[in-house]
Amino acid sequence: MQQDIERVLITEEQIREKIKELGAQISEDFRGKDLVVVGILKGAALFCADLFRAISIPAELDFMRITSYGAATKSTGVHRVLLDLDYTLEGRHVLIVEDIVDTGLTIKFLKEYLSQRGPASLSVAALLDKPSRRKVEVTIDYRGFEVPDFFVVGMGLDYAEKYRNLRDICILKPEIYKS
Ligand code: IMP
Repeated sequence: MQQDIERVLITEEQIREKIKELGAQISEDFRGKDLVVVGILKGAALFCADLFRAISIPAELDFMRITSYGAATKSTGVHRVLLDLDYTLEGRHVLIVEDIVDTGLTIKFLKEYLSQRGPASLSVAALLDKPSRRKVEVTIDYRGFEVPDFFVVGMGLDYAEKYRNLRDICILKPEIYKS
């Protein structure tokens, strides 16, 4: 795996510290509220697991899985829900947890989809934000790190299902995804 990596962009230690901060902020903001944390599979599974443990108030955990049609390194904005939530969202505070916001199309789709279920509020936490590639405006309420326009892997993020178990956020050598 390591030979496919150009360099480390964000270390495991930096990620750990940031998740601690985000968890503390979320706990403060949702204290006394009925919070449902929704992790988006598969990319956000690892971030969501760590963030959920950094939240110190009562909260429920659920997952969704959606597919986006298009090439492996591009998002098209056309999505299909493969796994939906178990619980009702009516009147509850929902926190969507994503790995990375790139074009913003996935978050836009999710917000529209989930808002139809009458939540009291809908917020977004994303480990990474790649604003240079945005196609639609989205608000990220809890943001880990801004990243430049490189294809990154690790901490749940993949290329062709590989590299999710790298502990740092790493820049993949372009020849890997261009070949
Ligand atoms: P968006 O809809 O363009 O914002 O894309 C969001 C999804 O694209 C993320 O949940 C990732 O699965 C994937 N993605 C975008 N950029 C990267 C990247 O640099 N590495 C790995 N996956 C990425």
